[in-house]
Amino acid sequence: MFSPNLPIPGTMRTKIPSAGLFTAHRQNLCALLAPRAIAIIHSNDMQVTNADAFQPFKQSSDLFYLTGVAQEETVLVLFPDAREPEDREILFVRESNDHLAVWEGAKLSKEQATGRTGITRIEWVADFNSILSRLMPQADLVYLSTNEHPRGDLSYGTRSLRFARECQSIFPLHTYRRLSPLIYGLRSIKSEEEIEFTRIACDITEAGFRRVLGFVKPGVGEWEVEAEFIHEFIKRGSRGFAYAPIIAGGRNACVLHYIPNDQPLKDGDLLLLDVAAEYGGWNSDMTRTIPVSGKFTPRQKEVYNAVLRMVRYADSILRPGVFIADFQKQVIAQMDKELIGLGLYTAEEAAAAPKDKPLVKKYYMHGTSHHLGLDVHDVSPANQAVAPGMIFTIEPGIYIPEECMGVRLENDYLIGETENIDLMASIPIEADEIEALMAS
Ligand code: GLY
Ligand code: MN
Ligand code: MN
Repeated sequence: MFSPNLPIPGTMRTKIPSAGLFTAHRQNLCALLAPRAIAIIHSNDMQVTNADAFQPFKQSSDLFYLTGVAQEETVLVLFPDAREPEDREILFVRESNDHLAVWEGAKLSKEQATGRTGITRIEWVADFNSILSRLMPQADLVYLSTNEHPRGDLSYGTRSLRFARECQSIFPLHTYRRLSPLIYGLRSIKSEEEIEFTRIACDITEAGFRRVLGFVKPGVGEWEVEAEFIHEFIKRGSRGFAYAPIIAGGRNACVLHYIPNDQPLKDGDLLLLDVAAEYGGWNSDMTRTIPVSGKFTPRQKEVYNAVLRMVRYADSILRPGVFIADFQKQVIAQMDKELIGLGLYTAEEAAAAPKDKPLVKKYYMHGTSHHLGLDVHDVSPANQAVAPGMIFTIEPGIYIPEECMGVRLENDYLIGETENIDLMASIPIEADEIEALMAS
């Protein structure tokens, strides 16, 4: 059932991605840079919570993609046309000291940084400005990375954004270019090793879900279900949830981003589980909806099977060459038919509804698919068609607050040349299989 590449219990928490993976990513990016260009990619900041505490560190996904380094105060400089070979690729990392070694554990040594990344020249980040001053006169163009996710909070002050302003004020006559269109294009097509890490994340998610199928019953708390998942994820080498888990009984499932997970589960209700594991930095993203009692009512099964048909339909049309906006329109048109079939409104009512307020949106109000990778809502270049090697979720849902139920199903798909590969194919999804497993 599980991937042969899962770490052997008790020997290793998480497989380390190969330095060759990150070397290939850098080579692919360098091939896209204009002549005499330098690319500078910064880590994220540490984020304060309160008092003397910090949030767990989350690396810039662009920097992680190119280096595999998950350490703060890291900068990558790529300058393929630099005259001196040793100036063509430099990684700057934070120098360790005795205090850090005692309180947090030592930072990467230069040798460790080379081993992790495949980059020969490692410098201390304290020397970044002086080395940059020497390199900039050799460059004509400067590529900088910024967050260009269409729903990102772009006002958020990142280290990359601060550096972009600082660099342009010190070197105003260089030509500046956006790195995002280039690196987002690369990040959207997954390599074999990235796919393997995603598969493991999916397998760990499967283990969590199977555990929960044997745990859920009336009277159990949503938070207890969350605890079952995280136990299984951590035990299997994940660092944790890929995103804040949504464990929503009954009507709570109609709150799309429900995260309190603090209500007891009631007999007769459905339970929506949008919960998944990360592994080694790559994410999975799964949703299942199960009956709290272990058995669907006829009406619940009717709605459930409509959503399952939508999963299959979306899988059949999410194919190379399609644009997500067009795909979404087709899904909505099909969903409209399903909702009419469920008696939620009639074809006449649908036809009479204002064009900007279609009735289908009352019961299905979110997107069907997003890229998945180092970010759960992963990046891609604007207006790029679906292509082989991309990984997408498919996640239709039907939300009926007046019937106190929401049903969503979500699997992760690798787009293949001739067909999509369902990375969650072994995670139970048929209503009968869910019932059988909950009864056993
Ligand atoms: N769990 C986040 C999403 O499904 O997009
Ligand atoms: Mn999703
Ligand atoms: Mn999800």
